[in-house]
Amino acid sequence: MKVLITREIPQAGLKVLEIYKDRIEIDYRQGPPLSKPELKKAIKEVDAIVPVIPDEIDKDVIDSAEKLKIIATYSVGYDHIDVKEATARGIFVGNTPGNLTEAVAEHSVALMMTLGRKTAEADRFCRAGKFKYWEPMKFIGPKFMGKTLGLIGFGRIGQHFARIARYGFNMRILYFDPIPHPEAESLLDAERVDLDTLLGNSDIVSIHCNLTEESKGMIGEQELKKMKPLAYLINTARGPIVNEESLVNALKEEWIAGAGLDVFEEEPKINPELIKMDNVVLSPHIASATWEARIQMSRMVAENVVDVLINNKPPRYLVNKDLAQNSVTSLS
Ligand code: DGY
Repeated sequence: MKVLITREIPQAGLKVLEIYKDRIEIDYRQGPPLSKPELKKAIKEVDAIVPVIPDEIDKDVIDSAEKLKIIATYSVGYDHIDVKEATARGIFVGNTPGNLTEAVAEHSVALMMTLGRKTAEADRFCRAGKFKYWEPMKFIGPKFMGKTLGLIGFGRIGQHFARIARYGFNMRILYFDPIPHPEAESLLDAERVDLDTLLGNSDIVSIHCNLTEESKGMIGEQELKKMKPLAYLINTARGPIVNEESLVNALKEEWIAGAGLDVFEEEPKINPELIKMDNVVLSPHIASATWEARIQMSRMVAENVVDVLINNKPPRYLVNKDLAQNSVTSLS
């Protein structure tokens, strides 16, 4: 059986797969992302694929696969995969939930702090040799202690950000989520509110929901206009949740004070207007980039692959749960 790993990942997962080297052959690509034709060619005869975020595993790519049993994505998000199509063909989709919770929440805090305390801008200032004397009125930002944090999405990542904000900064926590989370609410003193209430009352709005048809473009002109003029927007979830053109207007016209962005509407393209702005902090989709998270993600994709190819059962971190009842044996 053959497994295609489309990019370089930590060794941990490869070591798990190597235990089965008599039965599993690894096609390990370590260069830049594969183009669509390369991906279609590479997927043709493999039993499992381990794609990463930029690999678009759409119907066209799935169509080229002749033996595929599992798409074990090296990510928690799976909006780059046509899950419906995979399910219709009896192909499992597995992901890596849970282990990047702290990493992503910590990165959201980092973006918030960088924005408020202007550390990226101050760093650029120092490197440009502009630090000539101490300036009482330069690089002033808000203190975060006691402010209000509004979380859009209150799953594992949102709740971990709330924990840091509540216990580290004594912040008030508001959240907007279609699903109530009563236990976390009482632990973190969090309040479930509607989106308008959250936008109008938060000093920091941070996005932690999945990209779906409903959440696409959820933060546009109307929503940004409802935010406080001194508020910051943080997005470490998925770019298309925010309408980037509206965000650029919001920042230019000072409807809000700044934005911390790890994800972009048309990744890896970044709107050139955002690049020019000092009240914007940018990072290249690195919120999960801690050694701990990335090593564990590598193990999890390998475990997903082994579950299906070797143990003939659904992957332990299964996305398309409808397939769980069917045995893998019936697919092969
Ligand atoms: C994910 O896993 O979905 C992140 O965006 C990248 O690690």
